[in-house]
Amino acid sequence: MNILAIESSCDETAASVIRREGDAFSVLSSIVASQIETHRLYGGVVPEIASRAHVEAVSAVTYEAMEKASLSLSDMDLVAVTAQPGLIGALLVGVNFAKSLAAANHIPLVAVDHIKGHIAAAYLGEKPLPEPPFLAMALSGGHTAFYLVESYTDFSVVGTTRDDAIGESFDKIGRLIGIPYPAGAGFDRLAAEGFLSATGKENAPLSLYKKSAAYKDKTMHLPSPALADGSLDFSFSGLKTAAINLLHRFEQSGEDFDRALFAARYTYEAVEAVAKKTEEALARHRVKHLVMAGGVAANSHLRKRIAEVAKKAGIALHIPSLSLCGDNAAMIGAQGYYEYLAGHTADSSLNASAADSIV
Ligand code: KG4
Ligand code: ZN
Repeated sequence: MNILAIESSCDETAASVIRREGDAFSVLSSIVASQIETHRLYGGVVPEIASRAHVEAVSAVTYEAMEKASLSLSDMDLVAVTAQPGLIGALLVGVNFAKSLAAANHIPLVAVDHIKGHIAAAYLGEKPLPEPPFLAMALSGGHTAFYLVESYTDFSVVGTTRDDAIGESFDKIGRLIGIPYPAGAGFDRLAAEGFLSATGKENAPLSLYKKSAAYKDKTMHLPSPALADGSLDFSFSGLKTAAINLLHRFEQSGEDFDRALFAARYTYEAVEAVAKKTEEALARHRVKHLVMAGGVAANSHLRKRIAEVAKKAGIALHIPSLSLCGDNAAMIGAQGYYEYLAGHTADSSLNASAADSIV
């Protein structure tokens, strides 16, 4: 089965052709046209500019994906499109384009939830696939949540952030220490420098950093974003506010400020919080597989730490390849396949929604 997928929920216009054969997926093409340079000027995504850029790019990106896969519309068995959640004007561009393509070419259409798509990125190129029921984490610019995946299409939220998302917090704090938007990858590299200077070791485990003098430095104290109320919830706004106050204090006192050690401390608190809640989630929901997905799943420190948690719990960890952690359309195609199997086809009345579909 050949699937043409389209994604336009935020600041990347993406299209992909994937194939499902037997019990595995293969990615024949995955084109991502990023608008990051356009939005960088403003330090974040400007919704109106994003919508217009999607209109300009969606057709070319879609045809490029088919060309790269050496296939045409007549070879497509399914069109999958992100319909929610995201920026409404941005989503509408992809949804309307996909509806017209599907209707004009008599191809079945399915609507895909962007977050389910992020998780489905872990099924691409992977064998065996994680078998439901499993736990999944979506860590992105807009989401920080744990889901219990009962089947490939039935998800329920078992923990979430009460305020900011983890990626959003990296972006906001990163901007304050001079890392251009989106700050996640730059933050990751700066934190690596900080962990190295704190421990004197390349790729040191976070347990070693915890023993270092840098970790014991009280002027760099930051609170854990893991809520201590027995839930699987987070507050990244609390961590972010404490970090902003800390940066102000350094600025006002004129004391020496080590950006790398600060990035390491912030990363440590964020990563340890996710690790702690992952351990709790695995203790509560007895599953054999864990998926970690979304843009922040590209974080090198988090990948290493969650691998330790999974090993200790004796479960299989599935993380998408680096190129499929961020927004792309191949992941939308993978989820689209399961929506189609479940009979969830859409028609020309399909609309987009800014809201989450998973509750
Ligand atoms: O999933 P995604 O591409 O878009 C959303 O659906 O939000 O996630 C984007 C987020 C941004 O906040 C970005 O800074 C973050 O993922 N990110 C990272 C890394 N790479 C991207 N955060 C931490 N470490 C990284 N290496
Ligand atoms: Zn995303």
